[in-house]
Amino acid sequence: MSDWIQICSASELPAEGAAKEFSAGTHTLCVAMIDGEPLALDNVCPHRGGPLAEGTIEDGKVICPWHQWEFDLATGAATDGSGSVAAYPLRRDGDAILAKV
Ligand code: FES
Repeated sequence: MSDWIQICSASELPAEGAAKEFSAGTHTLCVAMIDGEPLALDNVCPHRGGPLAEGTIEDGKVICPWHQWEFDLATGAATDGSGSVAAYPLRRDGDAILAKV
């Protein structure tokens, strides 16, 4: 079962085109801002565990800082089709940003 968990306030969200790491229960999320909307993936790269929030954001994708695998920020799918990372819905509740994990 998944729950909505507060991860930060709206003012703590990353700037456009950037990513930040947040905790959500037992999960660590990579939250990136794309076209004014925050998108969240699991922060742990499925290749060797690289921290996706420390990667580069480009064309709606995050590029893992360790070996440059690329993941679609909306779906979590690897852009070469070789796998995926979990994508988590986000919503605002007043000033709070919540993730469904
Ligand atoms: S750990 Fe992410 S690409 Fe290798």
